[in-house]
Amino acid sequence: MSQEILRTKVKDLLAKAPGEEVLAKGWVRTKRGNKEIAFIALNDGSTINNIQIVVDKNSTDPALLSKITTGACIAVRGRLVESIGGGQAVEIQASDIELYGECDPVRYPLQKKDTSFEYLRTVAHMRPRTNTFGAVLRLRSQMAYAIHEYFHSKGFVYLHTPLITASDAEGAGNMFQVTTLDLNAPLPRDKKGGIDYSKDFFGRRTSLTVSGQLEGELGATALGEIYTFGPTFRAENSNTPRHLAEFWMIEPEMAFYDIKDNMALAEDFIKSLVRYALDNCREDLQFLNDRYDSELISRLESVVNTEFKVLTYTEGIEILEKAVADGHKFEYPVSWGVDLQSEHERYLVENHFQRPVILTDYPKDIKAFYMKQNEDGKTVRAMDVLFPKIGEIIGGSEREASFEKLNARIDELGMSHRTLEWYLDTRRFGSCPHSGFGLGFERLLLFVTGMQNIRDVIPFPRTPKNAEF
Ligand code: 4AD
Ligand code: MG
Repeated sequence: MSQEILRTKVKDLLAKAPGEEVLAKGWVRTKRGNKEIAFIALNDGSTINNIQIVVDKNSTDPALLSKITTGACIAVRGRLVESIGGGQAVEIQASDIELYGECDPVRYPLQKKDTSFEYLRTVAHMRPRTNTFGAVLRLRSQMAYAIHEYFHSKGFVYLHTPLITASDAEGAGNMFQVTTLDLNAPLPRDKKGGIDYSKDFFGRRTSLTVSGQLEGELGATALGEIYTFGPTFRAENSNTPRHLAEFWMIEPEMAFYDIKDNMALAEDFIKSLVRYALDNCREDLQFLNDRYDSELISRLESVVNTEFKVLTYTEGIEILEKAVADGHKFEYPVSWGVDLQSEHERYLVENHFQRPVILTDYPKDIKAFYMKQNEDGKTVRAMDVLFPKIGEIIGGSEREASFEKLNARIDELGMSHRTLEWYLDTRRFGSCPHSGFGLGFERLLLFVTGMQNIRDVIPFPRTPKNAEF
């Protein structure tokens, strides 16, 4: 095929007025027709919509046409004309077709007969070619852009924090170890019989980070307001629809913000992101709304337009205890001091308040060591943002700014000072009040797309016993 005209993406073709000679390239979604004419629905990933290609069978090589099957990749040249059939304004009257790649219809993994999400996870390398994953992945990309735009418009500095680290930022001990020691050979031992990490690549024990926050605090106490946006890793054996072993997190950290400023930023941030999706990703949202979840768009609009409800953990527990007394059944018991399960969080959001909730002042024993300690000696200035369908979407806090208090808490928890000395320097030298939070990117995407399982909002999910593709 002569290529003197440039390829136009399907999204742009569909917005053009008829008349022009055009070149389209993409993958065949369907082919149907009659004796005279074939209709090919072509998609190139630029939009949820296909462009219809009309082929005159009498002037087309039948051998070529027979190879144009679902999944095949083609280039089509022709005139963009007004479409007579419903569904689209324009279509291409093909004059020339080139077959780039055939697609064996028997072996092609994407067949009409099984389109369940469970099945598609087993062919995650091909599922971006489906309408649903095309929509989800475009939304994912748009949301990433919206996050950078939001913080840049506010003057936050994008800080790159390390993925390999020697400290456990959350103190929860669920880290993936990073080593170049040969696990098939006898391991080097120190005098006490432990593993001698001085022989390892970094000369110490290292892991994949669970959070960029500690380094983020170094950034905030120098640059004022920073955010991180990158992958984080957690070796939690949680096989739930809301947990990944590798997920992306956005962590803003701000000097001179107290817990109230932190909450206000979290609410404004998440509303702006949802608004961005409604304003800029309408076609993909409409598709997901029509196909799977007829309340998706109204749920997104409602979050943008309602004020989040703020209450303390203690008040939240009282509501949950009352629900139990009134006969509501939870799988897990509720009492002051327990870590809330997503069923509890969702009860508060969906049943009780019917709006997003921010819970504050959690018991110190279920939260990380760095949170600002309250006067009562029992609680810390934590804040979790709870969302409909999801439960916890954001976790954050005001940070403990006092060197003495933070140091004492590290001792109390028996944490290693050695790997946190650099962090304590933020409190030793010009400490300041500061706050921050972490938004789970995939949890945000669960909310925005209405998908039910976190494995379906990331291209290549990492979960226990699953690292294929
Ligand atoms: O509540 P988390 O553990 O908080 C932190 O990591 C803090 N360092 C954040 C900060 O203050 N800078 O995690 C924050 C968020 C959660 O609210 C949740 O949305 C998400 O990260 N998250 C996960 N998402 C997917 N899979 C997992 N295993 C997740 N664990 C946490
Ligand atoms: Mg949390």
